[in-house]
Amino acid sequence: MLKIGFIGAGTVGTALAIRLSQQGYRVITVHDLKLAAAQRLAQAVKDCRILEKAQGVADTAEFVFITTVDDFIPQVAAKVSWHTGQTVVHCSGAASTEALAPAKEQGARVGCIHPLQTFASITQAVENLPGSTFAIEAEEPTLSVLKELATSLQGSWLELKAEDKALYHASACIACNYFYTLVQIAADLWQNFGVSAAEATRAMMPMLRGSLNNLGNTGLPQALTGPIARGDLVTIRKHRAAFEKKAPAVLSLYKELGNRTIPIGLAKGTLTESRAEELRALFKENQK
Ligand SMILES: NC(=O)c1ccc[n+]([C@@H]2O[C@H](COP(=O)([O-])OP(=O)(O)OC[C@H]3O[C@@H](n4cnc5c(N)ncnc54)[C@H](OP(=O)(O)O)[C@@H]3O)[C@@H](O)[C@H]2O)c1
Repeated sequence: MLKIGFIGAGTVGTALAIRLSQQGYRVITVHDLKLAAAQRLAQAVKDCRILEKAQGVADTAEFVFITTVDDFIPQVAAKVSWHTGQTVVHCSGAASTEALAPAKEQGARVGCIHPLQTFASITQAVENLPGSTFAIEAEEPTLSVLKELATSLQGSWLELKAEDKALYHASACIACNYFYTLVQIAADLWQNFGVSAAEATRAMMPMLRGSLNNLGNTGLPQALTGPIARGDLVTIRKHRAAFEKKAPAVLSLYKELGNRTIPIGLAKGTLTESRAEELRALFKENQK
C-alpha cells in the first residue's frame, strides 16, 4: 500500500489523513510548522512519524500531500528536493499543478485533488467527506491514482483543466461561503425587531435544512418556493417598502437576487411571463 506523507497538518491535511488511514492507506510521516498540529495528525492515525523538516516527508513518502495554505504551496515545492518515482499533490481548488513545477522538474509526478467540501473543523470535515466530489487535475498515471483515491474516500471525481480552475473555485465560494454571507445578512435583519442574529440563525436552521433537502431531492427549479415562484407582487412591494424604511443598505442586493430568481420561477412554470415583467419593473435599481 502507498506510503503517504503530509506537509501541512491543518484542517484539510488532518481530515484527509484520518479518512485515508481509515480506508487502509498508510500515512507514515507528517511535518507542520507547528509541532502541535503535526502531533494532532500523528495521534489520529496509526504509525505516523512527526518530522522536523518538510524534506523528511519528501524523503520517506511515495505520495506527498502539500496541504499548507495555497500561498505557501509553491514555496514548499521549491525548497524541498524531490525524486523520480514519487508523487506530489496539493488540494487547492484555485491553484493548478503549475504550483508544483519544481517537483515536476526534479522528476516527481504532480497532481491536484480538491475536495469540494467545507473544512471548518477536523471532526466535522471527517464526517462530511464521504460523498464529496473531488476535482482532479493531473496527467496519467497520476490521474488514475487520484481517481482511485477519491473513490476510496467514498467520493466521486471530476476532471478539471488548469485554465478552468479559478472559475470552478469561484463557483464553490459563491455556493459555500456566500451562502453564509446571505444567512448573516438575513439574520441581521431580525435585529430591527429586537431578535439577535444568533437567535435568528437558530430559528432559520430547520428552514435552511429543509431548503437543502429540497435542493438535493427535487433540485431546481422545482425546489423554489416563495413570492417570486408564486408571482406574488403585493408581497414583493411590501418587502421593498420595508427595506426602504428599515434596511436601505440591503435593498440593492435584494433587487439583484430577486432579478436572478425570476428565471428560476419561470422555469418552474408557476411564474407567468406577464408577472415576471412586473417583477422586473419592481426590481429595477431606481424604481420607486
Ligand atoms: N478549508 C477548506 O474548506 C478547504 C477546502 C478544500 C480545499 N482546501 C485546501 O486545502 C489546503 C489546506 O487548507 P486548510 O484549510 O487545511 O489550511 P489550514 O487549516 O490553515 O492548514 C494549513 C497548515 O499548514 C501549515 N503550514 C503553513 N506553511 C507551512 C510550511 N511551509 N510547511 C509546513 N506547514 C505549513 C499551517 O501552519 P500555520 O498555521 O502555522 O501557518 C497549518 O497548520 C489549501 O490548499 C486549501 O485551498 C481547503
